[in-house]
Amino acid sequence: MTWAAGLCGRSIVERMQRPTVRLASTIASTVACTAAQAAGRRGNVTDAIAAKVSRKLLNDPCSPLHHLWAQVKAHFAAHHPAFAHFQDDQPVVTVRQNFDELLFPADHPGRSAHDSYFLDEQRMLRTHMTANERAIMAEGVRRFIVAGDVYRRDAIDCTHMPVFHQLEGVSIFTPDELAAGTQQPPLPEGLEELIAGQEVPAGASRDAVRLVMGDLHGTLSRLMAALFGEAVPMRWSATTFPFTTPSMEAEVFYNGQWLEVVGSGVLRAPILPPSVPAGSLAWAFGMGLERVAMVLHAIPDIRLFWSQDARWRAQFAPPSGGAHGRAWERRRFVPFSKYPPIGRDVSFYVDEAVAAFAENDLFDLIRSHADDLVESVEKIDEFVDGRGRSSRCYRITFRSMDKTLTDAQVNAIQDAIRASIASSLPGVTLR
Ligand code: DAH
Repeated sequence: MTWAAGLCGRSIVERMQRPTVRLASTIASTVACTAAQAAGRRGNVTDAIAAKVSRKLLNDPCSPLHHLWAQVKAHFAAHHPAFAHFQDDQPVVTVRQNFDELLFPADHPGRSAHDSYFLDEQRMLRTHMTANERAIMAEGVRRFIVAGDVYRRDAIDCTHMPVFHQLEGVSIFTPDELAAGTQQPPLPEGLEELIAGQEVPAGASRDAVRLVMGDLHGTLSRLMAALFGEAVPMRWSATTFPFTTPSMEAEVFYNGQWLEVVGSGVLRAPILPPSVPAGSLAWAFGMGLERVAMVLHAIPDIRLFWSQDARWRAQFAPPSGGAHGRAWERRRFVPFSKYPPIGRDVSFYVDEAVAAFAENDLFDLIRSHADDLVESVEKIDEFVDGRGRSSRCYRITFRSMDKTLTDAQVNAIQDAIRASIASSLPGVTLR
């Protein structure tokens, strides 16, 4: 199966190393037109989401995400020069790449149109950068980091957007490398137990897995120290992902709280493509970039990453002529006045006999009218009335990042939201 089947015949590695502007805009228009055409099939990509696909924030020199990615690349170039760096701005992948090939069970919630964006039966917006791993490995790249935009239908609040960015890393160890590394130093405290409590990939020896996990732990520890400071406290815990075993996640203690930053593990045997020499083992990790940038720079609202306001952009514009020093990399965002919020409630009856109610449908509908002017949507009431009808009330908070909204503007958006709820959510009747 080729990458983003049918959209691009070239090798994925070749494609990613070239300027992506033209290709990415083709994808954006493909997504937009499919979003419109696919209504009624399985397509559920809204225009608000399609518009995000073309923004390519990682390429924007005034985006903190661009700087974080640059910092990660510089760290790998200095400490792990064998790693190739890719950026992939084309989020359309196949359902096979995103789920099947990564061994997600058939009933995994991510596969549903409630949680993910589909263009049609076969194609979707990737929900994680792990969807890219196999195609890159299949091209013979053994060690790499890759960053890109990922999409998930989600709640609306200051830390969640349906689009965000992830960094993914992979390192493959051939049987020769595994054999040569048997003289490994003792593993850091806790790691031995974490590994001992989990299965190893089919055909792998425990010693080889210890070697790979030790290398993964060291690589991630150095990356966290580079991003959060040498002395940053870290803790590791066992977890599960469909495609790794053993699996672990890392948290760092920063600004007085533990922050979950990476998921990682040793890839299960079927994840390695056939071109990888038999007997190889690989570690992989995934990290969310917004979440790291938000704590590093004290960015209070995830919508700011998408702001075009000069007062936002100026704060992350590269310093003229100067090199990026440590202090610059960690500078705190200075909020430029917060504009007043305007709240509006919407209440409706839900007839579950007609259709199950999915909150994510409501959130996408609101976003498709309000886009980034909606700050949060919260359920504030739910009850069953005397006639057995279920009623729900949601509070929508509107707030612009860069201007004061007027009541008239908000009323117009709210009217459009109400009209859409009435016409497009099955089983829902406005109160
Ligand atoms: N793809 C996972 C996610 O989005 C993160 C992840 C976990 C990536 C483990 C990996 C990994 O490569 O090995 O939640």
